[in-house]
Amino acid sequence: MDSLVIQGGNRLRGTIRINGSKNAALPLMAGALLASGPTILRDVPSLSDIDHQINLLRELGANTERQADGSLRIEVTDESNSHAPYALVRKMRASICVLGPLLAKRKFAKVSMPGGCAIGDRPVDIHLRGLAALGAQIELTKGDITVRADKLVGAEIFLGGNFGSTVLGTANVMSAATLAEGITMIECAACEPEIVDLANYLNAMGAKITGAGTPRITIEGVKELHGVTHQVIPDRIEAGTFMVAAAATNGEVHLDNVRLDHLLAAIDKLRAIGVIVEKDNGGCIVASARRLEATSITTQPHPGFPTDLQAQFMALLCCADGNSIITEKIFPDRFLHVAELSRLGARLHKEGSTVIVEGQKYLGGAPVMASDLRASAALVIAGLAAKGTTTVNRVYHIDRGYEKIELRLNALGAKIERVDQKELDL
Ligand code: EPZ
Repeated sequence: MDSLVIQGGNRLRGTIRINGSKNAALPLMAGALLASGPTILRDVPSLSDIDHQINLLRELGANTERQADGSLRIEVTDESNSHAPYALVRKMRASICVLGPLLAKRKFAKVSMPGGCAIGDRPVDIHLRGLAALGAQIELTKGDITVRADKLVGAEIFLGGNFGSTVLGTANVMSAATLAEGITMIECAACEPEIVDLANYLNAMGAKITGAGTPRITIEGVKELHGVTHQVIPDRIEAGTFMVAAAATNGEVHLDNVRLDHLLAAIDKLRAIGVIVEKDNGGCIVASARRLEATSITTQPHPGFPTDLQAQFMALLCCADGNSIITEKIFPDRFLHVAELSRLGARLHKEGSTVIVEGQKYLGGAPVMASDLRASAALVIAGLAAKGTTTVNRVYHIDRGYEKIELRLNALGAKIERVDQKELDL
């Protein structure tokens, strides 16, 4: 198991290109199951989550191939197996997004129920409610979700839950409705840019979807969808993470391939605490030259502040001037990074789903344990800003969502070495 050993205190400077979005690519890849003919996805990042999705698509009868330019070609050649087994699904919860496409195209799907994970319970009841409204019969047996329907029929579906809309639930129901008979209207749909990207892709395949990016999406069912070539949107969470890393090290970083309109809530907070974020040459510059101010952050569905940047901002605010308040409204238990940041000297006081961050002059390096993808990113950021050496253990979590993180940060002036944990234990 690898660890990252970080020598803190170096300002990040230079230019970085943001990769295609993991969370857009995963449902797009599942959407290829709907198409007759090959699909080509451009700018799919090289990540372990993407590899898990590739393995699942192969299990479900697709040929997949990375092409010379890095794009991913997917073509379904055998529709006989529609079972996504536990061995594959347990590695990545987003495997659930094959459910809607399989149901719509093959009339049947059996997908192992994804369990909870480090960020919380993560139920799929709303996905199932939406598919049931389209006419699917649903059974839960032996840990598998089985959905079947001779035909799907358009319906009016409310997809809200206690924590707002659901991103992958919207992806599943919207994808299934593309091949349903008649018109489907999804109310309280997720408005995330990844849903807009999926709708654009499905429309290019021949679907008739309007309203994506708003809480009401309308889908007029069509008879079939065909393969297309599609460019994946830039990863807004990766961009936000590098912005925070630049700010935490008092650096100056130019980001290429970034959609600022997908990041307005995060940019608003960066500016509020004193970070400069400006459009520059088709990308943006993020710079910080002074002690940052404290603020309050509440995570919300898009266009609100994204839960996937909560941990990174907490790391940043650990050294702000004053007390910050962070409230998590999407995954109320998504705070495993709190104990680890405290090991670096952060003063964090957690009460329910709120953490008060008491700003310190500086953090000091220490060994810490990564618990999930974004928590790992937060620990790397804290390590970059801290005095001394920070060792982040179990970094396989970070490899799920950030391609070659240490090489890309080192290219900006960081000092990070990837080592085998065993060497550290000696
Ligand atoms: C997506 O997960 C992302 N994953 C997550 O990114 C992200 O944190 C999350 O959306 C919220 O933005 C991918 O896109 C692959 P949800 P998703 O359904 O769709 C509750 C990362 O770090 N809920 O929008 O699974 C749920 O428990 C990750 O890249 C139900 O109650 O999240 C949560 O409280 C992790 N019932 C809220 O809704 C359901 O059926 C939002 O979850 C579904 C969800």
